[in-house]
Formats: sequence, C-alpha cells, structure tokens
Amino acid sequence: MTSTGEFGKQFSGFYRLSVQERRDVLQRLHPNLDFTVLCGENSLSDDAADAMIENALGSFRLPLGVVPSLMIDGISRTIPMITEEASVVAAANKAAKCFNASGGVHCKIDEPYLSGHVQLILKSKPTDDDFLRYQKQLQKIETELLSLANAQDPTLLAHGGGARRIELKLLAPTASAPNSPYFLVAELQVYTGDAMGANAVNTMLEAIRPTLCEAFDAECGIAIMSNDGAGKLVSATVQLPYSALPTERDFSPQAAAQRLCHAAELAARYPQRAVTHNKGIMNGICALALALGQDTRAIEAAAHFHATKSASYAPLSQWHCEHDSLHGQIQVPLPIGIIGGARQKHPAIAAAYALLACNDYATCAASLAAIGLAQNFAALWALATYGIQQGHMRLHSRAT
Ligand code: MEV
Repeated sequence: MTSTGEFGKQFSGFYRLSVQERRDVLQRLHPNLDFTVLCGENSLSDDAADAMIENALGSFRLPLGVVPSLMIDGISRTIPMITEEASVVAAANKAAKCFNASGGVHCKIDEPYLSGHVQLILKSKPTDDDFLRYQKQLQKIETELLSLANAQDPTLLAHGGGARRIELKLLAPTASAPNSPYFLVAELQVYTGDAMGANAVNTMLEAIRPTLCEAFDAECGIAIMSNDGAGKLVSATVQLPYSALPTERDFSPQAAAQRLCHAAELAARYPQRAVTHNKGIMNGICALALALGQDTRAIEAAAHFHATKSASYAPLSQWHCEHDSLHGQIQVPLPIGIIGGARQKHPAIAAAYALLACNDYATCAASLAAIGLAQNFAALWALATYGIQQGHMRLHSRAT
C-alpha cells in the first residue's frame, strides 16, 4: 500500500509477466504475504473446508487475479478478484489505469446499520386509534427491548455496535390474500460497525419477539434480518479530465466520453439495458467480494433491491460530461462485514485481506464500490468505442 500515484507505474506490463513473476512483483510489496496461502497449495485444507460447511468434500478452485493498483481515497490498493469470466480483470485494470491517472476514486460511506423485523400477526383489524396506541406502547417498552437485544451480543457491543431503535409498520392485507390478517412489523435497527451483523440481528430479533407479541397482544410471526442493504450504502465518484483519457481508434477522448454518457443514459431510460449495466458492476463487486469471503448473494440481493427504489428498475451508476471531464458516480448497498465469518476460517481469504491492506468495514466497502465503478467504466468505454466483443474475444482466445 502506498499513498502516491507513482505506485501504478511499476505495474506497467504486469499482464505480460508469467504467473510466478506476477507473484514475485507483489511479494516485494507485501513481504509478509504467503502466496502459497493466498492462491497456492496451502489455500484451504480439507479440515478447514470441513469446519466451514457440512458434507465437505474438499475445495473448488477458480482463477484469482489482481488489479495491482487502484487509487481509492488517495491510497493505492491491490484488488484481488476471483472470477470465471475472462475479460473482467483485464477490463478492471484498464479502468484502474484511467482512474489512477486522474487521482482515483473517492468514496463516502454511511454509518453501517442492519435492520431486521419481527412479524406480529394481529387478532383483529386495527383502527387508526389502535396504531397510535401501538406506537405509545412501543415508546414505553423500547428501552427494555433494546437492552434485551443488546444483552444477546456482548461482542458486538464491545466493538461499539448494538441495537439502536425500533419502528412499527402496519401492513394491510393485499388484494391477492384479502382474508389474511393485518400484520404489525417491528423493525429493529442495529449499528453493526465492522461486523456484517446477520447472526447478531437474528439472535436479537428472536430474543425480543415474545415481549413484542405480548405487548401487542399478537400472535408471533417470523423474526429475521432484512437483505435490503439500506443501512449500508456506499458512494464512489471519479472525475476524469478528457486530457487523461486515451484516444480510441476514431474517437477523441471527448467524443468517447460523450458516447459513454449516452450509453449510461440509455440505462437510466431503459430497464432492459439497466439490468445489464448493473450486471457489469456486479462483475467487479462480486469478484472482490468472493476473494474477501463475503456473502455475494446478500450483496446481489441488496443491489437489485436498491436498483428498484425509484419507480422503475434503475442503474446503480450515472455518468455525465461537464467542464472538460467525464464524471462517474455509483451508489451501492454493501451488506458486508469483516469480523467473524469466512475470514477467520479460510486462510486464503485472510490473505486476500492482507493483499488489499484492509482491516475495517469502511476500507472493504470503499474498495467494493470503487471496483464496481471501475468495472462499469470499462464496460461502457468499450461499448461506446471499439465494442465489447474485441476485448472479450481476445481474452476468450487465451483459453483455446
Ligand atoms: C458482461 O459480463 C458485462 C457487460 O455486458 C456489462 C455492460 O454491458 O455494461 C459488458
């Protein structure tokens, strides 16, 4: 890890090196990293695999590549990426070079919260007055409920996390199930700090459920965390002056940038394009998330939920041209954590954190958002200039 833009220069021609030569280059920068653990014969023993899941047979290998340098908030980071798709790492690298030439990516990370809900099945149809009564009742018992919730997870508390508030929502029957009862939903918000928090929130919800059911004279329904990702939003931006962008065939950097903005705008107007635009973003995010042992299904679920928060399915990133620069921004929910989970059990995952030089939620979240934006830029740049197939076909031909 270094804080200068010079870092990237030492990786010029990195892709032309042999696998061992690439490891040697990175070994010099990360002298304490054991590459036999990160990507070699010591990555995961049968015993370690057996401790992670039931009925383990061993482990399954996929290619691990790197973006050797992506500047994120002024720091050059090496991004490990696990993917089966030939062009993903090459595309991310191309984008990283463009981003680095313009100062890199800048990220904004909200305080991380995870929510969950207890379903309370009401015995009769409530009146408006009832709902006000429920809210007053919650006010009376909220402190007791939060203490009960927090008593479940002393470790989260010791790390500064914990249950912070509870809100009530009243849900009427839908037209498709008109005879179904009314539900009151108690939504618990938990500050998760560096933890993902899923287990903590589920345990808390199950602990407070009986008190809630009694207080609202309701039948107990389900208690489960939400994958909405709304409490873990991360934004990343780049500003790329035309002067720092490459010339592609017939396109000047300015013309290519403008065509890229038109391509991005198509995603804003046309959901059939937005879904592919977002899939490209997830190519980058999931490749890094997999290397970091994160729950990629949770990240995908949250991303697609976030994409539907406006009237129609929308792109997670936007691009516009202004003041001789191309501006890109992404906002993506990243329901991740770095405490507990696979990092503690899988030596190669621990080594991937060391390669990224990441030891906190914020760095991990920023890196994921940044690589998502880089992947998106690379796809749009190719689409807007030489077309997607050129890069794809060159890389697919490696395997034949
Ligand atoms: C391919 O995996 C991803 C792309 O289709 C993304 C995009 O079109 O933006 C290239």
